[in-house]
Amino acid sequence: MKKIMGLLLTTLLVMSLFVGCGSKEKDAEPTGGNDSNQSSSEKDQGNKGDNSADKPKVGVTIYKFDDNFMTYTRNAMTSAAEGNAELVMNDSQNNQSVQNDQVDVMINKGVKALVINLVDPGAAPTIADKAKAADIPLIFVNKEYPEGTDKIDYDKVWYVGTQSKESGDIQGKLVAEAWKAHPEWDRNGDGVMQYVMLMGEPGHPDAEARTKYSVEYIKDEGIRVEELEKQTGMWDATKGKELMTTWLGKEGDKIEMVLCNNDGMALGVVEALKADGYFSDGKYMPVVGVDAIPEALDLIQQDIMLGTVLNDPLNQGRVSIEMAINSAAGKDVLDGLDFSLDETKAVRIPYQPITKDNLDLAKKAYGME
Ligand code: GAL
Ligand code: CA
Repeated sequence: MKKIMGLLLTTLLVMSLFVGCGSKEKDAEPTGGNDSNQSSSEKDQGNKGDNSADKPKVGVTIYKFDDNFMTYTRNAMTSAAEGNAELVMNDSQNNQSVQNDQVDVMINKGVKALVINLVDPGAAPTIADKAKAADIPLIFVNKEYPEGTDKIDYDKVWYVGTQSKESGDIQGKLVAEAWKAHPEWDRNGDGVMQYVMLMGEPGHPDAEARTKYSVEYIKDEGIRVEELEKQTGMWDATKGKELMTTWLGKEGDKIEMVLCNNDGMALGVVEALKADGYFSDGKYMPVVGVDAIPEALDLIQQDIMLGTVLNDPLNQGRVSIEMAINSAAGKDVLDGLDFSLDETKAVRIPYQPITKDNLDLAKKAYGME
């Protein structure tokens, strides 16, 4: 049995490696083709000299393509690279060893900078060692090395993301304010908020901080809470729906609030609630998320979701690529950018609270208007 499992695992790994290479080649080719045409004509007009220095090859990995928020960030990267860099884009399929191999391949292919969305945040030093050995600048994006990017032994490494705690604080504030304005949400009238918590990936700094600080903020507002259920839904709508369905079966009417570490899971939660008769005939459940993806904005517009926290994909995608291009050209990594580095070598893009009152702000950040 063990042997068969081993064989199966190996086969799966080999298959996923193939798929990984396939999607990379597919993505890399058209961009490469367009870019080389475009850059030669740009060169004729300009006086900048070396063509390859103008349009560096930048190697990108995304921890998995099948992630709502990272898809928006990835598209923002592609737009930012247009005319400025040739992107080699990899789907790491949620597998750190696949990602390690992708980095080796890209370094061998001569990329001039790396933009890495880690699978496992703890793998940052391993990737940094590879970049250091090849003397290639490295920008981590979205998943932060938990000990701090400044603790990595390489001078050409930086991070672009957010201040994770801020998203927890903002979500907590949103919930606390709404709870105080709606005494009827305390269904059993015990003066305590009975909540369930859907967490992102364990060990992900965003997931850990959102789980902790949202509830801390609510408590600091003088609201008493009771956690009925808490589990990871891995940022994923399908898993979110499964969890919520189970909890509705188990806890039923006891649940008074649903806190989700991201909107992806909140979408699944809403589906489970709808299947249980919520959001019609006056049956309501407050649900909050983080990211402000367009599907969630839609639910807020319809008074289904209570609110979310804007996690800005356009800026995170754009800034990571521009930092890669700058550092590849030997310029100051923040050249031409309106952001600064904190003491951990990180650019922190601010989060913003989003409710029905300011949906436009989020729509702009997602390029919807
Ligand atoms: C978070 C985001 C999640 C998920 C995760 C992936 O910042 O809120 O939805 O995309 O990043 O690392
Ligand atoms: Ca209660």
